[in-house]
Amino acid sequence: FDGANSDFLKGVVAMSGLPPSDRVEVCFAGRSNVGKSSLINALTNRTRLARASNTPGRTQEINFFTLSDSHYLVDLPGYGYANAPLAVVEKWQKLLKQYLLGRANLRRAFVLIDTRHGIKAVDEEIMSLLDSSAVTFQAVLTKADKVKEKDREKVLKQVREKLSKHPAAFPEIVLTSSEKGDGLAELRAIIAGLD
Ligand code: GTP
Ligand code: MG
Repeated sequence: FDGANSDFLKGVVAMSGLPPSDRVEVCFAGRSNVGKSSLINALTNRTRLARASNTPGRTQEINFFTLSDSHYLVDLPGYGYANAPLAVVEKWQKLLKQYLLGRANLRRAFVLIDTRHGIKAVDEEIMSLLDSSAVTFQAVLTKADKVKEKDREKVLKQVREKLSKHPAAFPEIVLTSSEKGDGLAELRAIIAGLD
């Protein structure tokens, strides 16, 4: 796919608003500001399809994008944003949980990890939640351009170690940069290969 058929479909704030589960679906989860929306834009070759922002917590709904007539891409609200009001956090967490555990056509969850920071406690919480769901998840390192090549191995090692403790984790890690384009072709191929 090249983005020509990519479009914003809808933003969802409750399970009742989900589109029909008639396409292969992959979602992008990760801490606030990790680069979920930017990655969706980069994957689809569209600069403003998903709204990316410097303000953490920008994406507050579950946003559905059509990737092709057979795939949906899903941009999830970021977690771990310390300044969000508690009531808001609890609402997101509930929706996120319902979505991750209940979406029948969800084939893979990509858990995005900032290459500078590695896996944090909040990421482990999502990974544990995914362990209890039927969904395989895959770690995607973001903003690789911000870390020198020689320093990446340390992060990869930490991520590999943490992933090995999660039964739902797919062992292969994808290193990406939405800015420079690293890893995008690999990720596109992974998504296209799911059915
Ligand atoms: P929320 O919606 O708030 O959860 O954030 P998000 O995960 O969607 O992050 P978003 O894509 O909005 O990106 C956050 C910031 O990181 C923006 O300022 C982006 O420009 C920047 N960013 C995202 N990806 C990259 C990357 O690959 N390299 C660099 N250098 N910056 C990036
Ligand atoms: Mg976002």
